[in-house]
Amino acid sequence: MELYVFDNYDEISRYAAKMVSDFINENSNCVLGLATGSTPLGMYKKLIEYNRDRIVNFSEVKTFNLDEYRGLSGEHPQSYRYFMNKNFFDHVNIDKNNTFIPNGTCEDVAKECRDYEEKINELGGIDLQILGVGSNGHIGFNEPSSELYAYTHLADLTEDTIKANSRFFKNIEEVPSKAITMGVGQIMKSKRIILLASGVNKAKVIGRIFNGKISTENPSSILQLHPSVAVIADKKAASLI
Ligand code: GLP
Repeated sequence: MELYVFDNYDEISRYAAKMVSDFINENSNCVLGLATGSTPLGMYKKLIEYNRDRIVNFSEVKTFNLDEYRGLSGEHPQSYRYFMNKNFFDHVNIDKNNTFIPNGTCEDVAKECRDYEEKINELGGIDLQILGVGSNGHIGFNEPSSELYAYTHLADLTEDTIKANSRFFKNIEEVPSKAITMGVGQIMKSKRIILLASGVNKAKVIGRIFNGKISTENPSSILQLHPSVAVIADKKAASLI
């Protein structure tokens, strides 16, 4: 695994945005896997600037997001569709028809998951996947467990995750307890992965990605088996490597 450590959040955001825009400049019609959460926000901001300054062009890019809360429509301010539109898609020259996020309010979840997988495969799989990581080691919403799913599925969120994500909601009762998420198999099939981490509360999990054993109880540890992962972290997140 490649490791890039920087002094602060701003520097990791800039470096990640540069990596992504270089990648797009070499593969103008690539398929990106995208993440939500607070960690990639700075990277999205920089990519918006690069797009405005014509350093990168999203007109042929396709994107698949990792996950969406079950029960939230795209208009809900805490849905990941809303997050992506507001923080990224609305500000760059991407065709929204080429941006895919599971539909949290679909009637038939199993079908939604199957269709999502098929669409990813139809477009040739994910070329570059952006990941954040939960402080409990989750990637997407693949939570620590005795078993993991390879493919897109409906996941139960753990208490830890519900608590961590309640900061975005009015109160903890409003946080959905389930989400549709890409599975670890689809994530691991990405040709290249960039994992972003910032802050001391990610230090333990980042340390374990580099030094720990591979375990389904720490889904991010599976990234050790991937041939092309770049971890971009600030000093605090990298402090236990
Ligand atoms: C969320 C998302 C993950 C994200 C993680 C970390 O629950 N489903 O994709 O990586 O939490 O979030 P943050 O970047 O805010 O720490």
